[in-house]
Amino acid sequence: MNVREAILSRRSIRKYTNQPVSDEDLNDLIEAATYAPSGTNLQPWYFLALRSDESMAKFKVFMRKTAENFMPVLRERFAKNPEVIDETRNFLLGLGGAPLCVLVFMLKDAKSDKNYDDNFTLLQSVSAGIENLLLAAVEKGLGACWMTAPVKAGLSEDIRKEFAPDHGQFVAAITLGYPDANPGAPKRREGRFDVI
Ligand SMILES: Cc1cc2nc3c(=O)[nH]c(=O)nc-3n(C[C@H](O)[C@H](O)[C@H](O)COP(=O)(O)O)c2cc1C
Repeated sequence: MNVREAILSRRSIRKYTNQPVSDEDLNDLIEAATYAPSGTNLQPWYFLALRSDESMAKFKVFMRKTAENFMPVLRERFAKNPEVIDETRNFLLGLGGAPLCVLVFMLKDAKSDKNYDDNFTLLQSVSAGIENLLLAAVEKGLGACWMTAPVKAGLSEDIRKEFAPDHGQFVAAITLGYPDANPGAPKRREGRFDVI
C-alpha cells in the first residue's frame, strides 16, 4: 500500500472486532507517530497506550462522563440526524469494543524552555504525530478513531491527573483495533482549495 492509498482509504472506525493488536504493530504505530515533523523539533508529544483490562476500564469511566457532558453538543450539531447522536453516544460509552486506546498528551515545559510557549505550534506538532499513527494503522489493516470528545467534555485535566500527571496536557484519545465496520468517505466540501 502506498501513502496515497493509505490517505484515501483511512476512515474513522467506531466498531472493532475483539482481535488483539500485537506488541510489534503497536510499537510500529507509536514509532510512526514519533517520526512526525514538529516545530523547532521539540517532538512535544507523549503517547500512553491503554491495553490492560484495568486501564481500559478506568478510561471508560471518563468516557461515560464524556458521553453525558457531550450530549448537548451532539443534540445541537446533529439535530437533523438523530441516528448519529445515538451512534456517537454508544461509541463514546463502549469505545466500539476497541481492544486498546492511545492517550495523547502535549508536553509543556514553558518555565525551562521558551519554545514551549506557542500552543499553536505544539498542538500542530502533536496532531501531525496522531495523523502519522492513523495512516500507519491503515497500512496494517488496523482501524482507529481520533477523539477529542473527552477534551470538549471538560475532562482533560482529570484524565491528565489520572493517567499521566507529569506529561503535559491531555489533547486526544485514539481507539485502535481491527475494524468491524467499513464506513464510506464523507463527501468532500467545496471551496476549500485554491491555487494562485
Ligand atoms: C481533531 C479531531 C477530533 C475528533 N473527535 C472525534 C470524537 O471525539 N468522536 C468521534 O467519534 N470522532 C471524532 N473525530 C473523527 C471525525 O468525526 C471524522 O474524522 C470525520 O467525521 C470524518 O470522517 P473520516 O475520519 O472517516 O474521514 C475527530 C477527528 C478529529 C480530526
